[in-house]
Amino acid sequence: MAIVGAGPAGLLLGLLLHNAGIDAVILERRSRAYVLGRVRAGVLEQGTAELLERAGVGERMRRDGLVHQGFELLVRGRRHRVDLRGLTGGSTVLIYGQTQITRDLLEARGAAGLPTIFEAQDVAVQEFAGAHPYVSWRQDGREHRLNCDFIAGCDGSHGVCRPSVPREAIREYERLYPFGWLGLLADTPPVSDELIYVNSERGFALCSMRSRTRSRFYLQVPLTEEVSHWSDARFWEELRQRLDEAGRERLVAAPSVEKSIAPLRSFVVEPLRFGRLFLVGDAGHTVPPTGAKGLNLAAGDVHCLADGLIEHYSERSAAGIDDYSRRRLRCIWRAQRFSWWLTRLLHRFPEDGAIGEKLQQAELDYLLHSEAGMRTIAENYVGLPPTFGEEANLLLRK
Ligand code: FAD
Ligand code: PHB
Repeated sequence: MAIVGAGPAGLLLGLLLHNAGIDAVILERRSRAYVLGRVRAGVLEQGTAELLERAGVGERMRRDGLVHQGFELLVRGRRHRVDLRGLTGGSTVLIYGQTQITRDLLEARGAAGLPTIFEAQDVAVQEFAGAHPYVSWRQDGREHRLNCDFIAGCDGSHGVCRPSVPREAIREYERLYPFGWLGLLADTPPVSDELIYVNSERGFALCSMRSRTRSRFYLQVPLTEEVSHWSDARFWEELRQRLDEAGRERLVAAPSVEKSIAPLRSFVVEPLRFGRLFLVGDAGHTVPPTGAKGLNLAAGDVHCLADGLIEHYSERSAAGIDDYSRRRLRCIWRAQRFSWWLTRLLHRFPEDGAIGEKLQQAELDYLLHSEAGMRTIAENYVGLPPTFGEEANLLLRK
């Protein structure tokens, strides 16, 4: 196997395949230090945590991860708790940073002596429509080539694999949002034991965490903003204004460890397989981060593809890999819908006018005071099972 991209999707797929005796080489455009330094996701569904356990990298996650049984919605100054555990019959999420996952996966790769080629330039995926695909790249001024059975495109939303597919073979669905998230990481205790998603008149904010001493915060900002316009002092002041009194009291400003802006986007391509090339994780789909689904979807893709490939090599059956795109797209569209809906519900959309704002408040008023409404949020947030609805579909078909 050739795997393009050493993000969580590529690293996890590589390890699961290795555990099953399938050789894989990972090609990564960036340096190891860059990959290890990237700050992103923080919320893992139980299925994602179980897959990391299965890959053999669960030890630190079990020790340092924080189990969260709920989170809070702060809407126009009032807090409402979403009791994930109570509303879903026992499901919870785990707070464990993507940076830590990447480190755990890279360490496991190193310990097993598995090949990862960092700083590979001009990676190109070739001949994947036929029986003999290969990947080429440049390094140290030399051309390299890897012949393989399959290529896994795990190279994120700005990678090379998706653009290599002929335009007529692929369909793209996209929505851009008129704002981004300005994120700040700091060594300061979280403002609450659980995450707080804030819908305020000044815009969305999120108080998240990585541990009991390290916190991650986000602010909705216009797309025209630049990080250089945001001193730490300005960030903390704006966050204070979007919080309630209790939040402000517990907020302890500290120097930023990292600060960056991420634009928000809903994006899916169909299908996810082109001959011997598979698109996995952000390479095939991007969600706005509001529902914390991106990394979890990437892990779901990896799970499905790894099992399909293992079936292919051990049982000589193509059933799993043939069904990869269809099975994953169903889960992906469900998560897209939830992420889009939660984004619409919690952010300011000035272009929707006064009626848009009133309708958003009315929808929140309904959801926050209805057990069915809160359950809708909770069961999507903890992650719907990949087989969700299949029994009902079978019954319908009978
Ligand atoms: P990536 O992490 O993007 O990795 C792709 C890799 O491919 C990179 O290392 C890249 O350098 C490499 N690459 C790119 N092009 C090439 C090339 N041409 N050749 C070789 N290598 C290449 N998700 C959640 O589930 N929960 C959250 O709480 C959450 N919060 C988020 C917060 C923010 C601010 C953001 C931006 C995202 C968040 N996400 C969250 C989403 C999550 O981070 C992504 O979905 C996840 O990183 C996807 O993993 P991936 O391996 O598919 O892609
Ligand atoms: C994070 O901690 O980075 C985080 C948490 C929840 C989200 C998005 C990001 O919905």
